[in-house]
Amino acid sequence: MLGISYRVESMKLLITGGSGFIGSAVIRYLLAETDHHVLNVDKLTYAGNQESLEDIEKNPCYQFRQHDICDQPAIRRLFAEYKPQVVMHLAAESHVDRSIDGPSLFIQTNIMGTYNLLEVARDYWSGLEGEAKECFRFHHISTDEVYGSLGDTGLFVEQSPYDPSSPYSASKAASDHLVRAWHRTYGLPVILTNCSNNYGPRQFPEKLIPLIILNAITGNSLPIYGKGDQVRDWLYVEDHARALCRVICDGTPGETYNIGGHNEKTNLEVVKSICGLLDEMASEHRVGISRYEELISHVTDRPGHDARYAIDAEKIQVTLGWQPKESFESGLRKTVRWYLDNRNWWQHVQDGSYRGERLGLGVGLVS
Ligand SMILES: NC(=O)c1ccc[n+]([C@@H]2O[C@H](COP(=O)([O-])OP(=O)(O)OC[C@H]3O[C@@H](n4cnc5c(N)ncnc54)[C@H](O)[C@@H]3O)[C@@H](O)[C@H]2O)c1
Repeated sequence: MLGISYRVESMKLLITGGSGFIGSAVIRYLLAETDHHVLNVDKLTYAGNQESLEDIEKNPCYQFRQHDICDQPAIRRLFAEYKPQVVMHLAAESHVDRSIDGPSLFIQTNIMGTYNLLEVARDYWSGLEGEAKECFRFHHISTDEVYGSLGDTGLFVEQSPYDPSSPYSASKAASDHLVRAWHRTYGLPVILTNCSNNYGPRQFPEKLIPLIILNAITGNSLPIYGKGDQVRDWLYVEDHARALCRVICDGTPGETYNIGGHNEKTNLEVVKSICGLLDEMASEHRVGISRYEELISHVTDRPGHDARYAIDAEKIQVTLGWQPKESFESGLRKTVRWYLDNRNWWQHVQDGSYRGERLGLGVGLVS
């Protein structure tokens, strides 16, 4: 295998789902910190937001194409024209509650879409020769939710058995298996990463942290599923973006890397931390209450709600030298500040189809 020096020079990356929360952070990081070129391929579902990429859309190293990853002829044409050296596959339906109400899109995009991409990548890679063939990488970005739920102790490691609970995590588990099979069967040089819960600027406000911030400053109740004692391991999105870029440069084909923030918190702790920050930073939006915590309301728990996720990120730390820069406290402070300062971004999102309604009780869309 060729050395690191080749991989730190300018490369052409095809990134799927680059208009989403994590993908846009990855693209901003790549364009700011490296000489790489990026082609962002995104269908622009409700979760894709071009305003998240406004500051880089005119960068000469950046291109965007609106396509569905399930559209194999279109994706094949893109590979032939752009000739990527690395594929970073982030496009997915990503919200657990939506997967409970309507699993069909999750099966389509996360499983069939990944299959399409693998087939196109395999054909394209098979036609490469020499250094180009040896250096090609297919990086699949996945979640720790594929491992299911932990008890009070223990951590997910790369060898943990798969045991997904929701249609979302089952679809991601299926796509992980396909990616590994394309490596073992066809030799496609794939790398997988499984990451814990991300948070940070530009996250669609159906996920816990932005939902709570926006509900609080608009005077709405702060819904906690059940007792709020579910534990998640939180990672600041820019730390995840750095980790993914380490992996495409120096990760070993066929390997999996777990990525996590060493920040285990119960959902109730997260919500109370946000309330504390808002008491300090946004007291002017507090109407008729003396502390934001007074808006907390416990609602019916999510069916199949996993009790605890926690990642052992030692492998990526030891082999690739990555570790998070943000603590939960510093990352959450930056996140709250961003939502307070970027009202336009989230108001445009809220003007669209999503209005903060409760999803995921299994009584919504028919699959
Ligand atoms: N958010 C997290 O906490 C987290 C944690 C671990 C792993 N992941 C994984 O990281 C990836 C990105 O997550 P995210 O939070 O940024 O998701 P997101 O929902 O914010 O963004 C997903 C993006 O994919 C695009 N997309 C969806 N279906 C598509 C299709 N058929 N074709 C092309 N584009 C399509 C959307 O338009 C959107 O831009 C996902 O694969 C997710 O499973 C997320």
